[in-house]
Amino acid sequence: MNQNHSVQSLFQPFSLGNMTLSNRIVMAPMTRAFSPGGVPGDDVLNYYKRRAEKGVGLIVTEGTVINHPAASTDPNVPYFHGENALKGWAKIVESVHKAGGRIIPQLWHVGTQRGIGKPPNPESLPIGPSGLTAEGFKVNEPMTDREIEEVIEAFAQAAADAKRLGFDGIELHGAHGYLIDQFFWEQTNKRTDHYGGNFITRTRFAVEIIQACRRVVGPDFPIILRYSQWKRRPFTAKLVETPEQLDQFLSPLVDAGVDIFHCSTRRFWEPEFEGSPLNLAGWTKKLTGKPTITVGSIGLDTEFISFFAEGKGAQNVNIDGLIERLEREEFDLVAVGRALLVDPAWAEKIRNGRVEELVPFTAEASKILF
Ligand SMILES: Cc1cc2nc3c(=O)[nH]c(=O)nc-3n(C[C@H](O)[C@H](O)[C@H](O)COP(=O)(O)O)c2cc1C
Repeated sequence: MNQNHSVQSLFQPFSLGNMTLSNRIVMAPMTRAFSPGGVPGDDVLNYYKRRAEKGVGLIVTEGTVINHPAASTDPNVPYFHGENALKGWAKIVESVHKAGGRIIPQLWHVGTQRGIGKPPNPESLPIGPSGLTAEGFKVNEPMTDREIEEVIEAFAQAAADAKRLGFDGIELHGAHGYLIDQFFWEQTNKRTDHYGGNFITRTRFAVEIIQACRRVVGPDFPIILRYSQWKRRPFTAKLVETPEQLDQFLSPLVDAGVDIFHCSTRRFWEPEFEGSPLNLAGWTKKLTGKPTITVGSIGLDTEFISFFAEGKGAQNVNIDGLIERLEREEFDLVAVGRALLVDPAWAEKIRNGRVEELVPFTAEASKILF
């Protein structure tokens, strides 16, 4: 594999609010489920520290759940609440900072993607805007106003804790068909009150979460919103069909205080709409004027759902196409998932042209914290 194009643009610093990154490489949030009882320990600490030592500019942690009984679906997914879990996170922040890196937690509530009777709180029913799964099964009553308020408060509490622990910002998980996205999407949000309606008014839940987080973290603490057109089921789902609709969808989120949009796609080179090569991050930046993060098969030849669905691995490929887009300033930051999961030194190897040493991604790698 040859890396033909200079990678210099990837190693330019980036600043926003109180956060300065040494380069444009972001570690994508990846659930690892190595935190028994929701508490991230030293193995998780070393996993993130290694990426910071080897030149990742910004680490977005794996999804870490807010303080709500139905937020999680796996007892090994880290909590972002409770003394022990927060102590674990504080140590991780300290060691990543010592290594010269920056780190933000991805704050998560799974909504109705949680099965009935699942741990860690089997007695808690899944919650969603209309109590519906992506397939349309009713698993609970629609969330009440009180429940909505509690979840908003739990996100805000997590944001306040992130700041107190020394994190460099927060990312709200508004993608992939989880709770926030369930409010965005027409199939899971059938509400007739002000949290439902059309694709613009369905942003209201996210807007209130962003506003509540902003109130507690102040103006200079970056809030990133991750969103996606696709859902885990089905992948073909879309929130909006045209650039005009995307503009209308994003506008309330910008007004609420999002600093950076993390635009989740499976292949970064795919145009979002006909008639322009721009991808979702490209369109989002063009329409909002906000910095964006792109993601999806960077440095790999196979997209990541084939790993979940079929256990497929992926081979390393060059990032010439990515660099050309970055140089055109289509987006500002690039998130790398599996290539960094398997190889803590991915960023350093790319920087130094050691591409022959890159490690291919395998399903086996997902079972270990390298
Ligand atoms: C093992 C694994 C776990 C993931 N967990 C999360 C997650 O917790 N939150 C999230 O937003 N995305 C998650 N993703 C999606 C990644 O953040 C990323 O968008 C995806 O892997 C595409 O990037 P890649 O092609 O570079 O791997 C996960 C992906 C993988 C492979």
